[in-house]
Amino acid sequence: MGMGIGFGKVILFNEHFVVYGLPAIASAIGAKTTALVERRPGSGVELKDERPQTEGYKVEKLAQQKESLDRMLKFMNIDTGNNAFTVTLAGDLIAASGVGASAASCTAIARAFSQELGLNYSDEIINEAAYEGEKGYHGTPSGIDNTAATFGGLIWYKREGASQVMERMKLKKPVEIVMGNTGLVADTKVVVGGVRERKETQPEKYTRIFRAAERLVQDARKQLEAFNLEKVGDYMDENHTLLQEIEVSCTELDLLVDLARNNGALGAKMTGTGRGGYMVALTPGKDLQERVARAIENKGFQALRTTIGV
Ligand code: MEV
Repeated sequence: MGMGIGFGKVILFNEHFVVYGLPAIASAIGAKTTALVERRPGSGVELKDERPQTEGYKVEKLAQQKESLDRMLKFMNIDTGNNAFTVTLAGDLIAASGVGASAASCTAIARAFSQELGLNYSDEIINEAAYEGEKGYHGTPSGIDNTAATFGGLIWYKREGASQVMERMKLKKPVEIVMGNTGLVADTKVVVGGVRERKETQPEKYTRIFRAAERLVQDARKQLEAFNLEKVGDYMDENHTLLQEIEVSCTELDLLVDLARNNGALGAKMTGTGRGGYMVALTPGKDLQERVARAIENKGFQALRTTIGV
């Protein structure tokens, strides 16, 4: 029997822009996915998905999940013609858009197979296997989600051609955040594809927005490292505006972002793919975190209370 885990993540700055080589900042969060690999007689892989979910998520992602698993098995050279395995996914990370659910599951599965088969994969190889799995969900993933899911912590991430640069960032101490769930399932492939199309048809507009996103993330990094949270919050607000301009937000995300800001969050933005999924609010201190989370719950949405920079 092999066991593995993958961290959920929150993108604090520059989702989507990261697909085109701009830097982005992400952090692992306190929730994770676990995978258990067990041998059984026969051949093939049976997947049992026991993760908690946003309604409809698992059904919607079933075909992509299968493609993802096939890609990973191939990458890891696992002969499923002569061996049979049951893979069980569980853990406290909700299977939903925006929290890195697919990446966390890929990392957990790679780790579990590595343990069961004595492959002794390093974190770097686990990350590569998870990246291969992410292609089943994303098509052209930047790699930020699987990197956060594998290595954890707070990271500065940039894709340079085929290679990926990750730098660990340090926060003076962990900071409370709230993640609000719209309850809507998003298709990353479709949303990323939409950005690509609009970027090609509206080059001037997109060049201006991309330049602003590049400047913003550099400044945000400095303020995060200086632990100037008020400023970090302002940059999150500005990042949300840029994401609205590339048309990846939606009414529900904007509503939750406004709600968080009106209840004292230092900043708030959508996170991850957008067009549904989660938003994130910067809410240092348990009291502020609770106030923002309650405001979101009072409107009938789920709120996840967690931290960044652990
Ligand atoms: C999805 O969590 C993040 C995106 O930037 C896609 C990617 O980076 O692969 C939208």
